[in-house]
Amino acid sequence: MIKRFFEWLLQPLGLVAVLITVITLFSLAVFGINLTQQAPEQPIQFTHKLHVGLGIQCLYCHPGALRGPSPGLPTQTKCWGCHQQIAKTSTSPKLAVLVDYVQNNKPIQWIPVSQVPDFVHFTHRPHIAAGVNCEECHGDMTKVEIAQNPQTMNMGWCLTCHIKKAGDDKEKLNKLADCGTCHY
Ligand code: HEC
Ligand code: HEC
Ligand code: HEC
Ligand code: HEC
Ligand code: HEC
Repeated sequence: MIKRFFEWLLQPLGLVAVLITVITLFSLAVFGINLTQQAPEQPIQFTHKLHVGLGIQCLYCHPGALRGPSPGLPTQTKCWGCHQQIAKTSTSPKLAVLVDYVQNNKPIQWIPVSQVPDFVHFTHRPHIAAGVNCEECHGDMTKVEIAQNPQTMNMGWCLTCHIKKAGDDKEKLNKLADCGTCHY
């Protein structure tokens, strides 16, 4: 039975079938990768490009980055500071969604996109304190419309930078490359 199957595969028609299977699997894989890299359906179509372009500082909306592990995502109060005025004249349907959240006092549930697994210990504070820019890890947010998963935040990525930043400082290298620094 198996032998017959292989004989059939080697015939022209069989080869075509193999080819189709391979192409299908390949495109499914590409589609899968593409899917995880696509921006999630956010509750409001917030764009960094426009807002960072207005000169608003990252820390205004993500103040936790200085203080602790997580920068945090802004609540509607932050947005309403400006948008209360803008809402009076704006006709943008994207802004109507924000107005609806504020008027009904609904919390905005942003979908996080850049995350490391729970067994990894990452905190922003020491990085900002050491002078690492947001851009070094998150890329140029002034070009981003809806934030996507950068898919680069793996162990190799952390270690490459840690080794580079430690330079010749053996003590620092020991600390920054130690398993216990990022895992416990
Ligand atoms: C410092 C002021 C300021 C803050 C804070 C701010 N915005 Fe805006 N936002 C603007 C301005 C200015 C525009 C452009 C308005 C226009 O084009 O009519 C805008 C536009 C928008 C738009 C419409 C974009 C479009 O293409 O139509 C959305 C949606 C939006 N903001 C959401 C938010 C959300 C959500 C927050 C809070 C996380 C926020 N904004 C915080 C100033 C601000
Ligand atoms: C006006 C408010 C505002 C400003 C200013 C702002 N952000 Fe954001 N940021 C948001 C909101 C709202 C989200 C959640 C929606 C999303 O992911 O697009 C977000 C999401 C993000 C994310 C994705 C995090 C995740 O995993 O969901 C990163 C990274 C980020 N911001 C970095 C920055 C950087 C770097 C700057 C400065 C260059 C900046 N932001 C300026 C409001 C802001
Ligand atoms: C050394 C690299 C690095 C730097 C520098 C950095 N980030 Fe992050 N950021 C990360 C990683 C890794 C995550 C995912 C963390 C997690 O899953 O807990 C993250 C998550 C976030 C999130 C997701 C929201 C949240 O609270 O979980 C936001 C927003 C964000 N960063 C904004 C910023 C801003 C703004 C700056 C600059 C002030 C900055 N980051 C600097 C690596 C960095
Ligand atoms: C772009 C460079 C860069 C990247 C990427 C980076 N780090 Fe760091 N990290 C640093 C620097 C610089 C320090 C501060 C070193 C010092 O104390 O001078 C640091 C410090 C730390 C510390 C604190 C160490 C202590 O002193 O206790 C932890 C924990 C940490 N990083 C975890 C991570 C994890 C986890 C990742 C990946 C998700 C990561 N880092 C990615 C540059 C980076
Ligand atoms: C600078 C931070 C950092 C250091 C130091 C570090 N790791 Fe990791 N590690 C990570 C991050 C981030 C991930 C999760 C992302 C990924 O899958 O690569 C991870 C994932 C892992 C995983 C799970 C892999 C998987 O595929 O799910 C293992 C096991 C692991 N690390 C072991 C170690 C050991 C052993 C050491 C010491 C030799 C170490 N790590 C040092 C950041 C670090």
